[in-house]
Amino acid sequence: MNNVVSELIDKLGEELVISGEALAQRVTSFWDNSPTTALAMVKPRNTQDVSVAMRICHDHGQPVVTQGGLTGCVAGAVATPGEVIISLERMNGIEEIDAQGSTATVQAGVILQNLQQSVAEQGLLFPLDLGARGSCTIGGNVATNAGGINVLRYGMMRNLVLGLEAVTADGTVISSMNQMLKNNAGYDTKQMFIGSEGTLGIVTRVILKLYPQPISCNSALVATNDFNNVTDLLNTLQRDLAGTLSAYEVMWNSYFQAVTVEGAHRAPMSRDYPFYVMIEAEGADIDSDTERFNRLLEKAFEDDVIVDAVIPKSEADRRALWEIRENFEAILPENEPAYLYDVSLPIKDMHDYVDKVLMGLERKWPRGVCYVLGHVADGNLHLFMKPGEIGALHSDSDAIVYPPLQKVHGSVSAEHGIGTEKVNWLDSSRSKEDVAIMQLLKGALDPKNLLNPGRVLKA
Ligand code: LAC
Ligand code: ZN
Repeated sequence: MNNVVSELIDKLGEELVISGEALAQRVTSFWDNSPTTALAMVKPRNTQDVSVAMRICHDHGQPVVTQGGLTGCVAGAVATPGEVIISLERMNGIEEIDAQGSTATVQAGVILQNLQQSVAEQGLLFPLDLGARGSCTIGGNVATNAGGINVLRYGMMRNLVLGLEAVTADGTVISSMNQMLKNNAGYDTKQMFIGSEGTLGIVTRVILKLYPQPISCNSALVATNDFNNVTDLLNTLQRDLAGTLSAYEVMWNSYFQAVTVEGAHRAPMSRDYPFYVMIEAEGADIDSDTERFNRLLEKAFEDDVIVDAVIPKSEADRRALWEIRENFEAILPENEPAYLYDVSLPIKDMHDYVDKVLMGLERKWPRGVCYVLGHVADGNLHLFMKPGEIGALHSDSDAIVYPPLQKVHGSVSAEHGIGTEKVNWLDSSRSKEDVAIMQLLKGALDPKNLLNPGRVLKA
C-alpha cells in the first residue's frame, strides 16, 4: 500500500480512509456517473481529523482535492487518480442556531437544504438558494462563493458568511469564527478562503448570517415579447415591490421550449413567447403583499410589458413552475456533448451578446443549438451549447462564448468558479497584476501546491 495511505489509516483509523472497490462505488460528480478514481478518500469527523490528514499529506508532498456535494459545474472537485480526496460529508452537524443574534454555526458538510429547513423551524431564513440545494454543502457554497436565485436581494455566499474556520496545506487550523457583522480588526482573512475553490484552505466550520423567515410569498411566471420588457419589468418591480423582490429568473424561448417537450415539464402557457420570467417576492404581510404583487402584474399587462402570466394556486403549482427553471435534465443528452456556461456582463449588453453567440454557433455548427437562461438581475447568464455533433468540442465552444465578453468587460465565471474547466480563460477576465496577486497568495499559503492543484490557477 502507498505510504501516505497507510499513514492516514494508521493515524486516523481504517473507517475514515476509503480506497479500492469501496471508492469506485462513488460517482465522479453530479455530471459524470463514472466511478471515482483517486488514491484514497478521507472522511474526517471534525477539524482535528482534517488537520491530521493535511499534516500527513503535507509531509509526503501528497496533493489533495476537497469534496462537498459534488454538484459544482467546472470540474473543480473531480479527483485525479493520484490525489487524495478529503470529503467533508461526515462533518454535517448544525452546531448552533442563535435566534437572538440571527446566526448559525455549522460544520462544512451540512447540506444546504437541511440548514434552510432547520432555521425555518425557528422562524429564520438562510437565504442562499440554488437548484442543487438537496446535495450541495455549505462548505462547497463557501469555497465557490455560490450564488443562485436570491442573489439580487441577499447577495452571494460571501455576503452571508460572518466567520469561518479553515485548515491550510500544512494542517494549520485558522479560526476566524466571528459572529458580528462589524469587525475591522485587521485584514478580513476569511474572504481569502471564500471563493478560492479549495486552493488556499479547506473550510471546516462556518458562521452564517440569518434573516427573518418571510411570511408572504408571491410568485408568477410571466412572458414578454422582447428583452427590453424583461429589464423594464425588473426595474419596476425592484422599485415598486419595495425591496421584497427575491427572484427574477429569465428563460429564453430556446430553453423554455426544450424543457417543456413531450415527456418533460408541462408547459403552463404557450411555448411561443420570446422570454419567460419566474418572479418571486417575499414579504411580511400576506394580504397587502399579494394585493400589491397582483396590481403590479396587471399594470404590466396594461402597459404591454408582459403578454401572459400564470400565478400558482398552491405550493405544488409553485414547485412545478420552479421545476421548469431548475430542472434542465431534458436538455442534457446522453450521447452528445452539451456544455454549460456561466458568464456575467452588464444587463444592457446581454441581448447583443446572446445574438453574437448565436451567430458564432451558426457559423461553426449549423445544426447546433444554444439554450439560454439566467439570473439576469445580477448580470448572470447561463448557456447550454449543443454543437449537434459528436466529439471533444469544448474548446471550440469556448471560443464562441468567451471572446464576445471582452468588449463589454464581462466575466467568464459569474458564480460557478474557474475549477479546471476555465483555467485557460482566467486571464481574459482578470488583469495580469490581479492574477499575479492570486499566485502570490497561493504560493504563500500552499508553497507545495497540494490543495486542489490545477484548479483556478495553472498548475
Ligand atoms: C443554475 C445553475 C446552473 O442556475 O447555476 O441552474
Ligand atoms: Zn445559476
